[in-house]
Amino acid sequence: MSDQDSIFFRNFSILLAALVVLTIVLILFGISIQNNLVANVQGEADRSSIQKLIKPVAEVNTDPNAIVEVAPVAMAAAFDGSLDGQMIYDNVCMACHTTGAGGAPKLIAAEWETRIAQGDAAMLKNAIEGYTGEKGMMPAKGGRLDLTDEQVKVTVEFMLANLK
Ligand code: HEC
Repeated sequence: MSDQDSIFFRNFSILLAALVVLTIVLILFGISIQNNLVANVQGEADRSSIQKLIKPVAEVNTDPNAIVEVAPVAMAAAFDGSLDGQMIYDNVCMACHTTGAGGAPKLIAAEWETRIAQGDAAMLKNAIEGYTGEKGMMPAKGGRLDLTDEQVKVTVEFMLANLK
């Protein structure tokens, strides 16, 4: 063997040995990952979480005697239930009632005379339930159904107290 050949042979052997070592490392790595996965899937806690993830959205109730309880949907009160009429007005009602958009009466006394004449209760009912009048459509609670009746009341009171 020439010198050149033996150098090549030595380097090539080192390379081969390194590749064999790398292969073994990768095999061990793969086995450990596999073991981890299997352990996870078999773990009780994890299986229940998987079942929760893949369970159907609804189930047909085949028990004729089952009492179906419909939980009332608790709606969180808007603005944390605040009774600050001005704040609620600014956030909800202003869009229409300051600009007069869609025929909404602006906060000008003249636009409210006939409305006030019908009485507070009727006006409040209209504001809470919504209605379509001669000028346009007042959405129930100004479109914010999460306002409580009480919140609408203080807001209407704020509006009436601030007519110009
Ligand atoms: C999308 C627009 C709009 C929003 C938002 C809105 N309103 Fe109105 N509102 C109207 C219109 C239009 C009328 C007039 C309807 C008519 O009489 O023809 C009206 C009328 C009213 C009236 C008079 C009712 C009556 O019997 O004359 C009150 C009180 C009232 N709104 C309160 C409110 C309050 C309080 C809010 C906010 C919580 C609000 N509105 C938000 C459009 C709106």
